[in-house]
Amino acid sequence: MARKKVAVLISGRGSNMAALIAAARKPDYPAEIVLVVSSRAGVAGIERAAAEDVATAVVDAAATANQAAFEAAVEERLAGAGVEIVCLAGFMRLLSASFVDRWRDRLVNIHPSLLPAFQGLNTHARAIAAGVRLHGCTVHFVRPAMDDGPIIAQAAVPVLPDDTAQTLAERVLAAEHRLYPQGLALVAAERTRVVGETVVIADLPPQPSLAMLMSPGAF
Ligand code: GRF
Repeated sequence: MARKKVAVLISGRGSNMAALIAAARKPDYPAEIVLVVSSRAGVAGIERAAAEDVATAVVDAAATANQAAFEAAVEERLAGAGVEIVCLAGFMRLLSASFVDRWRDRLVNIHPSLLPAFQGLNTHARAIAAGVRLHGCTVHFVRPAMDDGPIIAQAAVPVLPDDTAQTLAERVLAAEHRLYPQGLALVAAERTRVVGETVVIADLPPQPSLAMLMSPGAF
């Protein structure tokens, strides 16, 4: 199967983008990153992608007339690069329903929580405030509603008693960098099938037994 051409859409530092680029350097990885598009000018992610010799484009949302013009400009770049799958990675704009529908089940996002818990922003502080013992990240297909859509893969990390939003964010981000390349690989290798609004994965090896994390000192 030919490697799928992937674009990564970013708005900032691009650490998940960098993880995808690194994974796609491996010869047996089923996707190649052909384009990075930023919705903001001057962000670190663009420099990082350029340093990796990946083609970059800035479609400055602040400088485009409206959302339709912004999306048309993005689409033009995607078409120009022959993109087949789009990955959102710290992309801070809500895409219109028509854009999302055009890319249905070929548009993937990573969100820093175990969805459907903690959609939206400030997920780490909210997880601490809610007292959850497990937090994590989710790779999912995008639907028009924010942080909604069929779940492809999730990784959980413990929430420790001394955690701050910052320390928890760092633990989750390390998990994101491992999870996103795995999630994209499943999509690019055509191992994901959306049934109803859940994802069925083909040829999944046996899963490890369920781990349960109790509150420290619970016994
Ligand atoms: C990540 O935590 C991602 O899950 C969220 O925004 C952050 C982006 O970080 N959507 P980076 O730009 O990938 O470093």
